[in-house]
Amino acid sequence: MTIANRMFSDRIADVPRSFIREILKVALDTTVISFAGGLPNRQLFPVEALKEATCKVFETQGRDVLQYAGSEGHAGLREYISTRYKEKANLDVPVDSILITNGSQQGLDLLGKTILNDNDPVVIEEPGYLGAIQAFSLYRPRFLPVPVSQEGMDPGALSAALSRNRPKLMYTVPNFQNPSGISYSEQNRRELARVLEGTDTLLIEDDPYGELRFTGCAKPSFMELVPQNTVLLGSFSKSLVPGLRLGWVVAPSELMQKLITAKQAADLHTSHFTQSIVCQFLRDNDADKHISMIRNVYGRQCRAMLDSMQRYFPSEVTYTQPEGGMFLWAELPRSMAAIDLFELAVRDKVVFVPGDPFYVRGKRHNTLRLNFSCSDVDTIELGIARLGKSVQKLMETVAEP
Ligand SMILES: Cc1ncc(COP(=O)(O)O)c(C=O)c1O
Repeated sequence: MTIANRMFSDRIADVPRSFIREILKVALDTTVISFAGGLPNRQLFPVEALKEATCKVFETQGRDVLQYAGSEGHAGLREYISTRYKEKANLDVPVDSILITNGSQQGLDLLGKTILNDNDPVVIEEPGYLGAIQAFSLYRPRFLPVPVSQEGMDPGALSAALSRNRPKLMYTVPNFQNPSGISYSEQNRRELARVLEGTDTLLIEDDPYGELRFTGCAKPSFMELVPQNTVLLGSFSKSLVPGLRLGWVVAPSELMQKLITAKQAADLHTSHFTQSIVCQFLRDNDADKHISMIRNVYGRQCRAMLDSMQRYFPSEVTYTQPEGGMFLWAELPRSMAAIDLFELAVRDKVVFVPGDPFYVRGKRHNTLRLNFSCSDVDTIELGIARLGKSVQKLMETVAEP
């Protein structure tokens, strides 16, 4: 039987498809240099150490780790996360407030499921993380995009959105944002915290990249500035490996109870086996040393991308200067659309993600996302030189009468 459209829920029909997946198909051609992906660098995965941890887990707890387990997650892993927040950010995060999830992506889904009804307003960064737009779209909210610039989210626009709409949720990635690579300044965070304080809007602080800072100094988290309003999401995907699918949600107890119910309905619990492997890995290895190696590599690659852009791009193209993470964001002159640049760039054998999917209000945007985590320095220079040529060609066509 062919499955007719009437079979699908309205819910799924409303979810935007991932344009990025389409682009990744082009990137399968090995002669194409791809800055389109959003993947951590596979060369940095600690395969041997994870193999050792896995063997140890099998040898010492084989039967236990293959059994069903509690929905909240592995006690040792939750304790590790709680201790690390204390040591690294001086944050008091009780073990009971941590729910282990299948990546932080599942945290977004569980929050949407637990909190949103149809048409509920949700503040979202503009541009914003596509995976959050997808996850929340399933619960059919009304998105309220608030612009994000080099400094962070616009506090005036946020204040207007809060007082007009009283949204239940607001979603932010304050450190090395996906897609733009920007980080909210300390002053911006304090201003946003003041706007939020005393309201009944929950701020989702999604922080998968926080540990990947290669320049500048850490800023206070919203969990520190407005703890009553904040739900914090974390992940092992960028600091260790994404394939084990381990993330977490930090939430106050009333919300935690509901999230656990939603988690049980979704999948009972996250794999106890993979949680045990990561716990063992963290016991036997120096996580700081591993993360510092990732930071050094990404920092070098980001610098190479910025230097090459300076060299090969016309001065009309502007771009962010990330202090960490995996992405940077470029802006073409207003008369140009990144989707047109994409067509030219594919022919020049380099790809990136045009900005359009990161805006909930569609139009032809002049922005693009470039990933620097997955290409070495020489490839970055070659790819940016190719892209610079494509930009030049597009400028010439736009300039023609
Ligand atoms: C901002 C942001 N949040 C969440 C995720 C999902 O990560 P995870 O692998 O932890 O599900 C990503 C992945 O790229 C991301 O960029």
